[in-house]
Amino acid sequence: MNQDQLKQAVAAAAIEQVKDAIYDGEIIGIGTGSTANCFIDLLADFKNDIKATVASSEASAERLRGHGIEVMDLNSAGTLAVYVDGADESNHRLELIKGGGAALTREKIVAAASKKFICIADESKLVDQLGAFPLPVEVIPMARSYVARELLKLGGNPVYREGVVTDNGNIILDVYDFMIATPQKTEETINGITGVVTNGIFALRPADLLLLGTPEGVRTLQR
Ligand code: 5RP
Repeated sequence: MNQDQLKQAVAAAAIEQVKDAIYDGEIIGIGTGSTANCFIDLLADFKNDIKATVASSEASAERLRGHGIEVMDLNSAGTLAVYVDGADESNHRLELIKGGGAALTREKIVAAASKKFICIADESKLVDQLGAFPLPVEVIPMARSYVARELLKLGGNPVYREGVVTDNGNIILDVYDFMIATPQKTEETINGITGVVTNGIFALRPADLLLLGTPEGVRTLQR
């Protein structure tokens, strides 16, 4: 099985997890990235059943609308029953690194506003310690150099993601060489730097369920 097939398999498993919520008339939170795209494409089969969705990026919103699925503003939707999204890394406590697609802030907001967060990923994303994947940090543009200096002081190696502007009009610094031993503490510390919008550690609000694609089938990890 190649990586695309593993993504398809976890997306199909996630559909099984959200079917009841769809038929109960719940609004579904939708993430961003290639694995989330697989999920969105499978959701198209339910376009006549699904009440509405909330998307964590303009790209996902566009893809959902392309399938004829309604996308709502989170402010009108209230608390969501379930949010489905991918990740760049997950540890065994289902603490994540996200933001490879630069959508981390909206992803964190939708995850925070959801009762259940289902993470879908292929098995290459499961790690013992977060940090081999460079940590994305969304930053207000005028604070870029200041935040980079503060991240250096924390021991990381921040690199400006050239040419990328987030859906919120901000920039991304990717922090290399930064192994994360205490994810909750590091998430709080980086979020405390003035000019940081948020960082890609999802430890204060981790996933509740991780559906992991393996050649032997979909593995389920629960908190
Ligand atoms: C986007 C994300 C994605 O969930 C993450 O990058 C994983 O993407 P993919 O499913 O393409 O591997 O956090 O900001």
